[in-house]
Amino acid sequence: MIPVGLSIDLRHGDIMPARHYDEPVVLWRDAQGIAHAWEDRCPHRGVRLSLGFMRNDRLTCQYHGWQFDRDGHCRVIPAHPSLNPPATIRTRVYEVVEKAGMLWVDFANRGARAAIAPAQGNWYGVRSLAIRAPENETRASLVLEEGQWRLSADRLLALHTPQVGITMVHMAVSDESARLKAAQWLTHLRDTLEEIVC
Ligand code: FES
Repeated sequence: MIPVGLSIDLRHGDIMPARHYDEPVVLWRDAQGIAHAWEDRCPHRGVRLSLGFMRNDRLTCQYHGWQFDRDGHCRVIPAHPSLNPPATIRTRVYEVVEKAGMLWVDFANRGARAAIAPAQGNWYGVRSLAIRAPENETRASLVLEEGQWRLSADRLLALHTPQVGITMVHMAVSDESARLKAAQWLTHLRDTLEEIVC
């Protein structure tokens, strides 16, 4: 599964776009605190659902206001208020797991590449940073030989690639008091990498 963001950055009511190569997803969190990940595309006319808004605990498309419940089924079509939308109208749903302070998405075409980091106990999200550097350069700096993450006793580093030439790095720590120092370390890493590559 691919780490696409930090759990602390997705609160109830938030809508978060993410992308891994050519697969855009939209993440959102419902009133029960459950995170969802869908293809970032409305099944009506293809508008990005990440441009939408929340209504009645449903992700609602910005264009014509179709409302989608947590299973991705369309429940309301405002232009036809008495219509019960057929079950075939639904979004493409991806599995999403929250672990070690991060959101991990099972992208259909790339899920087999990496397992979730086997981190135990409490982890605290530090930050997600976009680095203007190719994935292979970022991997070398983070000493990530394969897979999407590197785990030590107190630090988890994970990455995904929103587009060629840009790498998103996510970081979590097991000691909450270490967050500031870890954030500074990550910022320094980004500055150094961009200096080398650009
Ligand atoms: S494009 Fe989404 S409701 Fe029409």
